[in-house]
Amino acid sequence: MSEGKIILGISGGIAAYKTVELARELTKRGYQVFPVLTAGAENFVTSLSLATVTGNKVLKEIFTEADPILHISLTDEADLILIAPATANIIGKIANGIADDLLTTIVAAKNCPVLICPAMNTRMYQNSIVQENLNRLVAHGFNILEPDSGSLACGHVGPGRLPDIPEIIAEVEKLLQEKILRGIKVLVTAGPTREYIDPVRFITNKSSGKMGFALAEAFRNLGAEVYLVSGPVSLAPPTGVNFISVETTEEMAQRVDELFEKVQIVVKAAAVADYTPKEKFQQKLPKKNSLTIDLIKTKDILKSLGERKVDQFLVGFAAQTHDLENYATKKLLEKNLDMIAANDVSRTDIGFDSEENEIVVYTRDGEKILIPRASKKIVAQKLARLIGEKYLNKQNEKG
Ligand SMILES: Cc1cc2nc3c(=O)[nH]c(=O)nc-3n(C[C@H](O)[C@H](O)[C@H](O)COP(=O)(O)O)c2cc1C
Repeated sequence: MSEGKIILGISGGIAAYKTVELARELTKRGYQVFPVLTAGAENFVTSLSLATVTGNKVLKEIFTEADPILHISLTDEADLILIAPATANIIGKIANGIADDLLTTIVAAKNCPVLICPAMNTRMYQNSIVQENLNRLVAHGFNILEPDSGSLACGHVGPGRLPDIPEIIAEVEKLLQEKILRGIKVLVTAGPTREYIDPVRFITNKSSGKMGFALAEAFRNLGAEVYLVSGPVSLAPPTGVNFISVETTEEMAQRVDELFEKVQIVVKAAAVADYTPKEKFQQKLPKKNSLTIDLIKTKDILKSLGERKVDQFLVGFAAQTHDLENYATKKLLEKNLDMIAANDVSRTDIGFDSEENEIVVYTRDGEKILIPRASKKIVAQKLARLIGEKYLNKQNEKG
């Protein structure tokens, strides 16, 4: 039995009559299908047919008392939004960020991949504005299933026909199968920590948290249940992720310790402070000509996880300005990690506060894998997938 919740958006195209069959096939395969109709779609398909084949209530209204934030509760849970058929109108609205009915508002609040199946008259499909809107959607990460060519309901011949149902289902399954970590719990740490000298002064570092947040999001997209423990950063936590905010290394160590036993994968992307003031003054220190602060080492969270680990897949980060490979491979062994992601923080174009990153991954089996320079989101997607695959391989080997 397949798993997965699909929001099936239907807009006002003639091919909407085929969507009843599509909804039935998806339901038969075990997916939970939630039909959402535009006002236009109601001219072509009935709620009764869709409710009968899916066993779910058909949704149309954005403003309802029963669930005042339906567009959010639906998107919190969905694994895929499928729009079939997608009219020129809805494509234009989505491409321009318009959210004026339930379906377009759901897409604006999306938390999962979206598959759009355009279907329309050939002239409409070839209209340069429609093409521009489709290109814009692709650039924003939407998945488009090209329409078939053939004889259309309007009598014209050319591209614009909704692809056959098996073709749509194959595309749906491709996108849903991406969830290789469904049922797996992943703990990601991110950001810097703060070590207080007195109530207003602290020691910290340049970490922005971007890499850890992007990783949390990437693991969520792979279907994992994600716990993100982060030090102080100015980023909004990704939706659908369990977010735990901390300030000091000690707090981070505590929260990580509590979660460690219930997770299968741990990625420590936080740049934890290595030292903390020996003495923490309760009152603000007066300004003097000079100040000497004694620093002591903070708890080595990664090392203690390496010592405690039973079955967890443990991934660390090595940020270094020189001799990166030596440092990273040594840390991999010393801290009993399964993998380490190394980045060169002497470069100003990647790493710490920048938008981009480049990573070299070293594994316990002696592999060295380069994730080339790209936006932190792309690097995070590649790294999360690599970690997921290595974890699953290790589990398979154990049988
Ligand atoms: C009989 C008929 C068939 C239509 N078929 C299509 C179609 O296949 N594709 C399309 O993009 N628009 C089609 N339209 C136009 C849309 O219904 C119209 O643009 C509407 O505003 C779409 O609203 P919606 O996108 O909110 O559902 C058709 C209109 C009529 C009257």
